[in-house]
Amino acid sequence: MNNPVLLENLRCIPDFPKKGINFRDVTTLYKNPECMKIMVDEMYELYKDKGITKIVGIESRGFVMAAALATKLGAGVVLARKPGKLPATVIKESFSKEYGVDTVEMHIDSIDENDVVLIHDDLLATGGTAKATLKLVNHFHPKKVYMNFIIEITDEGLHGRDCLEKDVEVTTLMVI
Ligand code: PRP
Ligand code: MG
Repeated sequence: MNNPVLLENLRCIPDFPKKGINFRDVTTLYKNPECMKIMVDEMYELYKDKGITKIVGIESRGFVMAAALATKLGAGVVLARKPGKLPATVIKESFSKEYGVDTVEMHIDSIDENDVVLIHDDLLATGGTAKATLKLVNHFHPKKVYMNFIIEITDEGLHGRDCLEKDVEVTTLMVI
């Protein structure tokens, strides 16, 4: 169930970045200490017994809670970044977005076969970003992979969960 405090603090901006997109602005949750605590506590409850060793945060809005939760779980943080940002050898995957094409990259030595990985991002819309990141993570053959998002968008005809769920266990804190 959606936490009412998160729901009332989430800002929606119509027609951004282009007409027809109702932009869910998670920065209004990140700037609010009560919301930060609710989110990290809910995520901790979901993953405290899973033996997570690495959290993959997806650039850029996925970095925030990846770091906060990793500290609480005693896990490391891995950055899944936009192209050209990571300095060492990378693996990459391109995908289509609601508005354009994008690529996600990870360092080739960021995960190993002993890791239990949680991939985290702020928002699940089409699922393109998450699916590309999942492909990259699976390339490392970790022991187990989980996925978590703060917000799952199911209005506007989006079904991002459908393209992930057969491959991985997905949790979301809010469904809109
Ligand atoms: C947004 C959002 C997710 C992704 C969700 O990121 O933060 O990462 O899009 O969309 P999808 O499910 O349709 O792939 P964006 O690319 O706007 O970049 P940012 O996080 O750096 O702001
Ligand atoms: Mg993002």
